[in-house]
Amino acid sequence: MNQVSAFYTGPGQLLAAISSALDAAGVDRTSLRPADLAAVDEFHIRGRRATLEIMAALALTPDSHVLDLGSGLGGPARTLAELTGCTVTGVDLTPEFCQVATALSEWTGLSDLTRFQVGDATATGLPNESVDAAMTVHVAMNIPDKHALYAEAYRVLRPGGTFVVYDVLQGEGGEVYYPVPWADDSSTSFPATLEDMRGLLPLAGFEVISEIDSSDESLAWFQHMRAKIQREGPPPVTFATFLGDSFAQMTANQVANLAERRIRTVMFACSKPS
Ligand SMILES: C[S@@+](CC[C@H](N)C(=O)[O-])C[C@H]1O[C@@H](n2cnc3c(N)ncnc32)[C@H](O)[C@@H]1O
Repeated sequence: MNQVSAFYTGPGQLLAAISSALDAAGVDRTSLRPADLAAVDEFHIRGRRATLEIMAALALTPDSHVLDLGSGLGGPARTLAELTGCTVTGVDLTPEFCQVATALSEWTGLSDLTRFQVGDATATGLPNESVDAAMTVHVAMNIPDKHALYAEAYRVLRPGGTFVVYDVLQGEGGEVYYPVPWADDSSTSFPATLEDMRGLLPLAGFEVISEIDSSDESLAWFQHMRAKIQREGPPPVTFATFLGDSFAQMTANQVANLAERRIRTVMFACSKPS
């Protein structure tokens, strides 16, 4: 197994762990909605709120077919599918995440609108110009060849389609403190700078429509999450369900990384010219 997917793959039984945690908390799985799983399956800074911003930028309809590059446990895909009626194909390197994503879609009644396949976001194997919109959320930090990632998004997207990138960037404050939720150390972490991104997206052929830096909101989001957990205890399932005991240290590092601007969170909305 590749070093990146090894990082995301736990000791196994992730679906069983999620299932028993929900049962223990008395959550009725027959009426589960995507929002109920957001603390575990929206695996990026600012969670579901950020996904709703991506959804607005993509301007989807029920006819839209969306590609999610690095779809994780599928929270962003299910949120888009539930709220717009679009269909989403997720591609992710980590087989266990794809299996769990497929099961969570069954639990939430969204199997018809979402599907998840194991693959590399830099070479999905999907046909040229086969999707109406594409997104990638907190994935490029794990991918050294970012041109290959953005060129693949461009190839698969139809002309006139929108591509949204929401990622963690290298900030100006210095080296990232590790571990973080995407890597134990710098051997699998390659965050681009803002300047890199301003070159990479046009190089792949995209016109950048907007660039929104949410680093302040990201810091507030972590602080709010930590305070809420201290006050009320954690929700039944969280990123700790698969990140394990290091999650507390990762969260502390992320607060410091954001406060010291060692990382930034930035969303880019791009268009593929017609
Ligand atoms: C931090 S998670 C984000 C998951 C999801 N986008 C979300 O926001 O909930 C990063 C994901 O990227 C996936 N990933 C990393 N490198 C990849 C690659 N080259 N191709 C496909 N997926 C990749 C990992 O397996 C992991 O699921």
